[in-house]
Amino acid sequence: MRVAMIGAGYVGLVSGACFAEFGVDVCVVDTEVSKVEALRAGRIPIYEPGLDRLVEENARDGRLSFTTNLDEAINGADAVFLAVGTPSRRGDGHADLSYVFAAAEQVARAAKGPLVLVTKSTVPVGTGRKIKEILRKTRPDLEIEVASNPEFLREGNAIGDFMRPDRVVIGAESDRAFQVLRRLYRPLYLIETPIVQTGLETAELIKYAANAFLAVKITFINQMADLCEKAGADVHDVARGMGLDGRIGRKFLHAGPGYGGSCFPKDTLALARTAQELGAPVTIVEQTIAANDARKEAMAERVIAALGGSAAGKTVAVLGLTFKPETDDMRDAPSLVVVPRLVEAGATIRTYDPQPSHARQMMPAGVQFAETALDAVESADAVVLLTEWNEFRALSPQKLKSAMRGDVVLDLRNAWDPAAFREAGFTYQSIGRQ
Ligand code: NAD
Ligand code: UGA
Repeated sequence: MRVAMIGAGYVGLVSGACFAEFGVDVCVVDTEVSKVEALRAGRIPIYEPGLDRLVEENARDGRLSFTTNLDEAINGADAVFLAVGTPSRRGDGHADLSYVFAAAEQVARAAKGPLVLVTKSTVPVGTGRKIKEILRKTRPDLEIEVASNPEFLREGNAIGDFMRPDRVVIGAESDRAFQVLRRLYRPLYLIETPIVQTGLETAELIKYAANAFLAVKITFINQMADLCEKAGADVHDVARGMGLDGRIGRKFLHAGPGYGGSCFPKDTLALARTAQELGAPVTIVEQTIAANDARKEAMAERVIAALGGSAAGKTVAVLGLTFKPETDDMRDAPSLVVVPRLVEAGATIRTYDPQPSHARQMMPAGVQFAETALDAVESADAVVLLTEWNEFRALSPQKLKSAMRGDVVLDLRNAWDPAAFREAGFTYQSIGRQ
């Protein structure tokens, strides 16, 4: 089989490489010339564990190629996947579908025969039908089926999530479209992956419902953490005690500084807007968005309070800027709220991330970037653990203490052992624990 993947971002690149690993011929297209050139030269433009090896091996075996030429990519393809971005539209929070519609139109213009156009991008309910309309208008002479195959991978674990998903969702309206997608995912039948076969609208909504539910779940445990602090309880044990109930489940009950990333913030907002417009508001999601935004601000205030009420003239080491570990993605990271607020309050900020990212371009002027975690904490008054990279879990409290000037530790991911840090002489604070 042969597929074209439009968009060489986190989803397009991972899905393309994984389909190639399944034995499919994959051509990945991107409009960014430098990205395609890098990929052709064997350089991966993003950090995702295991992706370099997968791309290298499949490109070497001739199953994976990269181009900026869409016509060339879709020629002879059984399916064309749209994996372009759907960011928040400035001002109203709706998903910006301009990349999706533009790519769909380009495919229609370039198509030489019948094909199946599949949205892998996260698109609001009703988008597939709008794409159908664009295709019909652009190429009334051609039969182009539209299908929805939302992607559920997480950054940092993307290859494992794609290769061993909890389920595959396929929304379509013809047997041909279902058949093409089922054939592509055939290797997953061997591991008995559930396939949810449904209509276009339902598939589109499943993706938003799943992301919004996870965002609500995180926000719920974050609010429980606040309550634990007031009530003298421990949020780890609350999460464990709740999560062992099979109806609730233990995953995504880790309290922290508020969810970030390229998807939960924009997808919750887009779902809330769509639901309002359709006259069925999801107020629980609206409240989640507001609570999560407020939480990121509150984290900065918590650091200032721990510094005795003023950050002026203080040096704060911030460990971890990306929105989660094992990614270089900075989109909507809590650090983008916490660090600017601390700078505004007069603090000098020294940061360290184990992987290079775009943080340098996104942080306020004056923020310093250290080469190691220990360099970042050198002579600092406080250390804030914002993203729980494994490297940070292994840091010795004694080494931190001897490098630092002050004794304030804010572990906003509950990654460190409170007793060990207190024993080393720190004033240690975490989330939802005493
Ligand atoms: P991204 O911004 O990393 O990548 C999108 C790529 O598409 C860019 O490289 C861009 O240059 C390219 N592009 C845009 N228009 C194009 C065109 N007309 N032709 C060719 N290339 C074009 O985005 P992403 O994080 O991969 O997300 C893509 C979609 O997948 C979004 O809808 C997102 O919500 C969804 N999604 C993302 C994740 C994730 O973990 N990042 C997971 C599941 C779903
Ligand atoms: C999320 C979903 O988990 C994927 O299923 C989905 O495909 C993807 O969004 C998407 O649509 O793009 P991702 O954003 O990569 O994946 O990462 P997550 O592991 O879900 O983390 C998101 C945010 O929630 C991070 O800031 C993380 O620190 C936070 N989080 C997660 C918590 O604070 N607590 C938790 O228990 C889990």
